[in-house]
Amino acid sequence: MAQERTYIMVKPDGVERGLVGEIIKRFENRGFKLLALKALQPSRDLLEKHYADLSSKPFFPKLVDYMLSGPVVGMVWAGKEVVKTGRVMLGATNPLASAPGTIRGDYAIDVGKNICHGSDAVESAEKEIALWFPEGVLNYERSLDKLIY
Ligand code: PPS
Repeated sequence: MAQERTYIMVKPDGVERGLVGEIIKRFENRGFKLLALKALQPSRDLLEKHYADLSSKPFFPKLVDYMLSGPVVGMVWAGKEVVKTGRVMLGATNPLASAPGTIRGDYAIDVGKNICHGSDAVESAEKEIALWFPEGVLNYERSLDKLIY
C-alpha cells in the first residue's frame, strides 16, 4: 500500500538557527520515514510557483523575499496521516498561537519567520513534492512498516 507523503521545508530562519537536525529528529522520533532531503537556494520562480495560491495576499512579496534570503532544506516524509500529523508537529502558522511542544511553539514568535513549512493537504503535498523534487524521491519499505501498517 502506498504510504501518505508530505513535503516539509526548513525555511531560511530555521536553517540559520541550526534547527534542521531538531526538525529531522522530531519526524524520525515520531516514526515517519525519510524519502528525500536536500539543501538548496530556491529561485524566485520556484518560490512563486510554490506559493502561487497566496499571490494575491498582501504579504506575498515579503514572504517570497524572505524565502529567498538564504538556503532552505526540503524533505519528503512518509507515514500514516503524515500530512495532518506533520502540521500538528509544526504548530499553528502564527507561532504566538502555537502550542508549546510544537516546533513553532518551541522556537518562534514571528509569523514572518516561522521556521518551517508543511503541506496542508494530501493533494498539495504531492504537487509540492513534484515541484521541489522533480528528480523523484525514494520509495522503500522498512521492516518496521510491516509491523505498523
Ligand atoms: S492564509 O492567509 O490563511 O492563506 O495564510 P496561511 O495558510 O495561514 O499561511 C500560508 C503561508 O503564508 C505565510 N504567512 C505569512 N508570511 C509572512 N507574513 C505574514 N503576515 C504571513 N501570514 C502567513 C505562512 O507562514 C504560510 O507559509 P508556509 O510556508 O506555507 O508555512
